[in-house]
Amino acid sequence: APEPPPERITIEGAMSVQELASLLRHSEAEIIKILFFKGIAATINQTLEVETIELVANELGITVETASHSAEAAKVTEMLESSDLDHLQRRPPVVTIMGHVDHGKTSLLDAIRNAKVAQGEAGGITQHIGAYHVDVEQNGEKHQIVFLDTPGHEAFTAMRARGARVTDIAVLVVAADDGVQPQTIEAISHAKAAKVPIIVAINKIDKESAQPDRVKQELTEFGLVPEEWGGETIMVPVSALQQQNLDTLLEMILLVAEVEDLYANPDRPAKGTVIEAHLDRARGPVATLLVQNGTLRVGDILVAGACFGKVRAMIDDRGQRVETASPSFAVEVLGLAEVPAAGDEFEVFSDEKSARAIAEERAAAQRQSRLAQAATARRVSLTSLS
Ligand code: GTP
Ligand code: MG
Repeated sequence: APEPPPERITIEGAMSVQELASLLRHSEAEIIKILFFKGIAATINQTLEVETIELVANELGITVETASHSAEAAKVTEMLESSDLDHLQRRPPVVTIMGHVDHGKTSLLDAIRNAKVAQGEAGGITQHIGAYHVDVEQNGEKHQIVFLDTPGHEAFTAMRARGARVTDIAVLVVAADDGVQPQTIEAISHAKAAKVPIIVAINKIDKESAQPDRVKQELTEFGLVPEEWGGETIMVPVSALQQQNLDTLLEMILLVAEVEDLYANPDRPAKGTVIEAHLDRARGPVATLLVQNGTLRVGDILVAGACFGKVRAMIDDRGQRVETASPSFAVEVLGLAEVPAAGDEFEVFSDEKSARAIAEERAAAQRQSRLAQAATARRVSLTSLS
């Protein structure tokens, strides 16, 4: 009997219809038919881009993981340079909380911060990526953890598509009364593709209908086997609502961070990634920047993506103005001339003139590639008409 189609495939990049057909274990004719109904006229030897491959696979209910980002990611993640090596200091872990809708991501973060973010949000839904700094005392030592709160994973996807690697550890929240859901699976594949270690927080264990062992069982199907069952994944039962077991979760995060070798050189101009950005009517462009190497200071001249800026003010997660932001810290920055995109890299320059020139050069390149894309789109629609 022929092998059944796979549930997921991992691809490196573009490939031909023929190659895709054999990978998906469907006939070439079927692939071509699916493309046809999507308005794409294709032949057997035609090369399909990653996005098109995803389109076809999704139609067949097959998940696509791209390994191609890793090379790009490695390039972008090269936040450290050889000149930094003699000046490395430990930096706090940057942790992303992921999970299915309503499984308690915001509540968990909220409980950890001991603040009341979830209640204050419009409709209880996270509207933007927030970055929060948490102080943890352990064995008399002070540690810090930086948390990113992701909305639905869209921003994470956008950042990963651009090759940005901002997270050191992923905390996967799974509600004990609801189990593994589509976005749980999506989160696992994001974290795995980015090679980020996963810690599972089995939440809502206070509920009568909680079945933590069932959640563990379900997770094993996705390659996450709990340590107590002989696997390698740390799973912590918690209740965000009743603030249960949060200390253990934080302890586990620090434990994983310890073996991850997280270092940066604070004694150099800052470099990092734009986590979020928007245009504020009163304050102009506002960007949340995650510093991944160096120290960011008020007055610094920077380029974020294709945007030039001079740091006019920096505000931390508590709304306090700060003068500096060291590695792993995220701050809201005022003073950019335009709004950069989430996932853009930023870098501080010593010379304003060259910073402006770089920003302008990149903006021109972006305009160029947008024009080229539009031209390709026009050509494709003309081809499918003929
Ligand atoms: P989105 O941002 O919309 O994806 O949701 P979320 O994952 O951030 O979930 P949120 O924290 O908003 O919580 C969803 C609901 O679950 C809320 O009604 C919370 O009060 C409830 N909840 C969260 N954690 C717990 C918990 O530990 N126990 C119980 N019983 N309820 C919880
Ligand atoms: Mg939320």
